[in-house]
Amino acid sequence: MVILGIESTAHTASMAIVDAEGNVRAIASDVYKPPSGGIHPREAANHHAEAFPELLARLVSEGHLHPEEVEAVAFSRGPGLGPCLRSGATVARMLSLRWNRPLIPVNHCVAHIEIARLLSGMTDPVLLYASGGNTQIIAYAHGRYRVLGETLDMGVGNFLDKLAIALGGTFPGGPLIEQWARQGEPTVELPYSVHGMDVSFSGLYTAAKVAFRNGARREDLARSVEETAYSMLCETLERAVAHLGRHEVVLGGGVAANQRLRGMVERMATPRGVRSFAPPPKLCVDNGAMIAWTGYLVWRTGGAVPVEESLVDPRQRTDQVDARWRTPPPGARSPDVR
Ligand code: ATP
Ligand code: FE2
Repeated sequence: MVILGIESTAHTASMAIVDAEGNVRAIASDVYKPPSGGIHPREAANHHAEAFPELLARLVSEGHLHPEEVEAVAFSRGPGLGPCLRSGATVARMLSLRWNRPLIPVNHCVAHIEIARLLSGMTDPVLLYASGGNTQIIAYAHGRYRVLGETLDMGVGNFLDKLAIALGGTFPGGPLIEQWARQGEPTVELPYSVHGMDVSFSGLYTAAKVAFRNGARREDLARSVEETAYSMLCETLERAVAHLGRHEVVLGGGVAANQRLRGMVERMATPRGVRSFAPPPKLCVDNGAMIAWTGYLVWRTGGAVPVEESLVDPRQRTDQVDARWRTPPPGARSPDVR
């Protein structure tokens, strides 16, 4: 018994096979790279529409996918770019009808936390979800995952991507800035922008561009940007952990592949007696496996939908989804404990 997961919220078209024990059998992905500048939703959607048949064929020809084994087809319902989401959902609907298997809509942000929870074996962690489009602190409470803090403007990854281009680099900017930062010193003073549980990056972006124009070394700037931006994320994450009294944190999203961020989170967590975990990079970035696994949890708790109710939802919020698989059986004492 396996679940097929289909991911297409933004740059990444991905399909994966995961079994009921959470073993990831195979992931096939293809990332849309804009020729210049940021992502163009329709071009990315066209890329995905062309990529999916190839990804499917690859999974079959490499022996990972046997259609008769597939128990359900899961897809990202949102949040994400409408045209991109629709190209993944169309493929999911088609396969669900063709194979006569249930169709399972999955919230993309919830999937990042569930794959991290699966891999870490943690029960009730706080998630720092740091990707291109999203930057949020998420934790479970009373039947749903709640967003406790988030970016007030752009996602930290988009900030890094834009900045890298302004400094003469190319997409994706996060890994490039990480590389530059290794050869730099944190000598450039930059604005640190935390507002309660929220963060913002636009001031940092402007200040970094000005500093570059005024002669700051790219490497020093990259290092200073990493120190500032990741400290902001660690501060809000620490506050969430402290107030909730949780003992586990997990990282998700493409920026969680960053070694400096991982190290900082660990340094914050360890002295507090908090365990921290970051999935391997290929499961931090957008991937079909997290959709397949979360799809399994959703399906097991009655979340299949007919095709007519499988519309995508580009603005779906994390806390709009009933996390029924986290709800304790009737009679259990605390609604917050799995
Ligand atoms: P979404 O916001 O829907 O999750 P996305 O396409 O941005 O979509 P991801 O694949 O999770 O999703 O992340 C891509 C982002 O991660 C890019 O902004 C990229 O620059 C950043 N990134 C990848 N590797 C690193 C790294 N080593 N350090 C910092 N940022 C990184
Ligand atoms: Fe993501």
